[in-house]
Amino acid sequence: MTVDLPWELREAIDRCCESVAPPDLARAVADLSARYHAEAPRGHSVPYTRLAALAYVAVRLPATFAATVAALLQVRRERPDWQPRTLLDLGAGPGGGAWAAREVWDSVEQIDAVEADPEMIALGRELLCAAPDAARASVRWVRDDLTAPLALPPHDLVLLSYALADIASPATEAIVDRAWAATAGTLVIVEPGTPAGFDRINRARTRLLGAGGFVTAPCPHEGPCPMANSDWCHFAVRLPRSRSHRLLKAAELGYEDEKFSYLAVSRAPTPRAPNRVIRHPISRPGRIQLALCTPAGLETAVVTRRDREAFRRARKVEWGDEFA
Ligand SMILES: C[S@@+](CC[C@H](N)C(=O)[O-])C[C@H]1O[C@@H](n2cnc3c(N)ncnc32)[C@H](O)[C@@H]1O
Repeated sequence: MTVDLPWELREAIDRCCESVAPPDLARAVADLSARYHAEAPRGHSVPYTRLAALAYVAVRLPATFAATVAALLQVRRERPDWQPRTLLDLGAGPGGGAWAAREVWDSVEQIDAVEADPEMIALGRELLCAAPDAARASVRWVRDDLTAPLALPPHDLVLLSYALADIASPATEAIVDRAWAATAGTLVIVEPGTPAGFDRINRARTRLLGAGGFVTAPCPHEGPCPMANSDWCHFAVRLPRSRSHRLLKAAELGYEDEKFSYLAVSRAPTPRAPNRVIRHPISRPGRIQLALCTPAGLETAVVTRRDREAFRRARKVEWGDEFA
C-alpha cells in the first residue's frame, strides 16, 4: 500500500521548512534520527526546538502519517458503517493523527490533540492553517503531560501514534489504561515496526483484552499472540519521498517503506480478519505462498492455479491484508 501526504500538508511542510537554511535542517534531521535510535526513550523531558520540530515534520511526519492511515484503513475495513465523530489524539506531536483520521473518515469533526511539547503544538497549529476550514476549526490543542493522571473525556476514536515509543516504559501502562478509559468506540495504537515497538503493542493488547476490549485489527483472534516469543508482528507502508525529503535524508530512492506495528481494540465486538497475511506473499509461476496468522496460530498456505477462485484472490493480496 502506498500512502502520500495530502497536498495541502505537503506544501505547508515545505513552506515552514523554507524558513531555515538547508544545512541546519539536515543537521537537525541527523540529530532527530540519533534521538530515535537511542536506546532509552526520552519523552518530552528533552524538548523539541523549533528546528527539531521542523526536522520531524520534514522526514518523520510523512512516515507516521502513512502508517497511521494504513492502520485506520484496516479499522474502516472491519467497521464500514462506523462514522467516528470525535478523535482524541494522545502524544499528537504536530498533528499528523488529525490529518490521518480525517483522511480516512470525513465524519471526524471534533479533535482533541494532547501534546506536551510547545514547539510541536505551535508547528501543528501552523500546518493546520493549510487544512480545509472545517478541519482547522475543529482541532483543540491541549498542552498536557500524558504521564500525569489526566481525566480524559470519552471520544469515539482514540489514537496513540508513535507516542508510547517516546515515553519511558513504567508510565506506558497507565497511559494505555487512560486511553482505554476515554475510548467510546475504538482505540488504535501505532508503533515503529521493531521488536521493541511490537513488544509495547503486545503488552497493550494483553492489558486491553484483560480490561474487556475486543480486537478489531490486525489479529484474527483474541488468544495469546503466536509471534510473541519468536518474531514480531509488523507491516509496511510505502510513502513517496518529495525532492526535499530525499535531499535531507541523502536518499536515492523516490520512496521509503515504513515498518509499523499496530493494534485496534474496540469496546464492543466488531468483525475482524479471518486470517491476516503477515509477510510479503511469495509468488512462483502457478503458485502463491502466504504466511498467515490464523485463529489456530501461524500457518503457511500454498494457493495453486488449480483453485482458480482462491488463486485469483491470492494474486491481489498484499502483506497486511486479510485472506479468507
Ligand atoms: C514520535 S512523536 C509522535 C507524534 C505523532 N503522534 C505522530 O504520529 O507523528 C511523539 C510525541 O509524543 C510527545 N510526548 C512524549 N512524551 C509525552 C508526554 N509525557 N505527554 C505528552 N506528550 C508526550 C512528544 O513531545 C512527541 O510530540
